[in-house]
Amino acid sequence: MAGLFPSLLLLLVPLSLTALAEASPSSTHDKFLPDKIARELAGYQDVVEQIVDYAVNGPGQNQSYDRLATFTDAFGSRLSGTQNLENSIDYMLEYLRKDGLDNVHGEDVNVTRWLRNQESARLVEPRDYVIAISSLGSSVGTPEEGILAYAIVVRSFDELVTRMDEVTGKIVVFNQDYEGYPKSAIYRVASASRAAEFGAVATLIRSVAPFSIHSVHTGIQFYNESLPKIPTACITIEDAEMLYRMEQRGTRLRIQLIMGAENLNMTRSRNTVAEITGSVYPEQVVVVSGHIDSWDVGQGAMDDGGGVFISWQALTTVRALGLKPKRTLRLVLWTDEEAGGVGSQQYYDAHKTEAGNYSVLLESDEGVFTPYGMEFTGSGAAMMVMEGIGKLLPEFLNSSVIYAGGGGTDVGWWRASGVPTGSIANHNEHYFYFHHSDGDTMTVLDPHQMDLCSAVWTAFAYVLADMDDLLPRD
Ligand SMILES: *[C@@H]1O[C@H](CO)[C@@H](O)[C@H](O)[C@H]1NC(C)=O
Ligand SMILES: *[C@@H]1O[C@H](CO)[C@@H](O)[C@H](O)[C@H]1NC(C)=O
Ligand SMILES: *[C@@H]1O[C@H](CO)[C@@H](O)[C@H](O)[C@H]1NC(C)=O
Ligand SMILES: *[C@@H]1O[C@H](CO)[C@@H](O)[C@H](O)[C@H]1NC(C)=O
Ligand SMILES: *[C@@H]1O[C@H](CO)[C@@H](O)[C@H](O)[C@H]1NC(C)=O
Ligand SMILES: *[C@@H]1O[C@H](CO)[C@@H](O)[C@H](O)[C@H]1NC(C)=O
Ligand SMILES: [Zn+2]
Repeated sequence: MAGLFPSLLLLLVPLSLTALAEASPSSTHDKFLPDKIARELAGYQDVVEQIVDYAVNGPGQNQSYDRLATFTDAFGSRLSGTQNLENSIDYMLEYLRKDGLDNVHGEDVNVTRWLRNQESARLVEPRDYVIAISSLGSSVGTPEEGILAYAIVVRSFDELVTRMDEVTGKIVVFNQDYEGYPKSAIYRVASASRAAEFGAVATLIRSVAPFSIHSVHTGIQFYNESLPKIPTACITIEDAEMLYRMEQRGTRLRIQLIMGAENLNMTRSRNTVAEITGSVYPEQVVVVSGHIDSWDVGQGAMDDGGGVFISWQALTTVRALGLKPKRTLRLVLWTDEEAGGVGSQQYYDAHKTEAGNYSVLLESDEGVFTPYGMEFTGSGAAMMVMEGIGKLLPEFLNSSVIYAGGGGTDVGWWRASGVPTGSIANHNEHYFYFHHSDGDTMTVLDPHQMDLCSAVWTAFAYVLADMDDLLPRD
């Protein structure tokens, strides 16, 4: 696809999830760290051990999980544009201050405001059957009485084009195979406009997930502004396959779709910031981050409560151990990530003139399951520093390997402008079982696994914030 969609998608998809299947260690093992840096890193061995002990066996044990459970049980899901999200941000500001952190504040941004409202779908021909749906973010609604139309089922955009003469006035159901998140998410993101181009009245997309117990998985979609905006929702894998089988047998499908979704004016939200101010170079920054907003389904525990709470845990741990990093260790909780990184883009716009003072931005937004290293985008020289830090970690954390391709949606603008970015490699093989669905709850997470992530996250963040120099760039 030309134009807007591919670049937006790139920003939406964590690089490392793209790379999960083919993740390969960086190829810098045959090169050597400059002696000075190797000696400097060796000096952090003891403090890294203290950090790990604090996080895994000490007072930090279970802390990020318990804090997150308290938070999600209190607020539940945190959709951009809602008062509930703002209340959850107020709560974080209060507790970050209570935690003794510096410069705790919100930075105002304008965010999207989309409401799902009531939604339902029924197969009315060949038999009466309730189809579970979840409207996609930014979708328009149907007229109040709904849309009643015949449906066709396609398996790909190519098939859509081949059958374009059949599309006018129809609901187009997409039953695309799951071929990994980035590839399949294009169907969620772009199907409405692709089908509207040929006269479709609505689209229903097979949920982008590798596994399903009749679950619907929402997510953002984008309209092509030069085409009619038609309602779009996801359906379960099971229903997509059933509709496909019915059509293969020549059965005529007729569906009634009712969606109350609406897009309201942008509203105010905040990126949440807290720091341990640098003791020597306060203007220089290492960022640890996650996004506080979530979809309106599930509890936003995994996506991205986990990333938010291990990032807070990093500052808690550094402070509790009485460590005073030379440069500023800054926690940022991004708002409105789910609509495409809306809050983080405004943070970038507001702070990009300081880019020369950012050593690295770390973002955790792909799970906080058992870690097995870090993912990193930056120069070869910086990659060697990252590997040097990884080697300070004890063997049981299995984190001495740095994989190419680090960071998430919210640090994408920094990465694109050449600032190093990183994320945590973790055993998130089942991430998309739960992603953007009612299944995203605390039950998916594990306190010990979160402690292991906190240990790795804190060690990297602290050492990077305390080293003599910023990470080298190309
Ligand atoms: C939007 O649709 C028009 C008309 O089909 C097409 O020419 C254009 O490339 C599309 N834009 C994007 C960003 O896909
Ligand atoms: C942490 O949770 C585990 C169970 O998941 C429990 O056995 C352990 O005692 C807890 N540790 C603390 C410090 O509460
Ligand atoms: C948010 O929108 C208001 C007006 O609606 C504008 O004055 C302000 O500059 C915007 N803020 C950002 C960060 O874009
Ligand atoms: C939304 O914004 C438009 C343009 O600024 C304004 O005319 C309209 O009154 C606003 N609607 C609401 C509900 O605030
Ligand atoms: C870092 O920040 C200081 C203080 O604002 C500024 O003087 C300096 O030029 C900045 N350095 C870079 C490399 O941007
Ligand atoms: C370490 O992580 C790698 C990469 O996922 C995995 O193959 C290996 O089994 C892990 N080792 C341990 C001891 O967990
Ligand atoms: Zn996320």
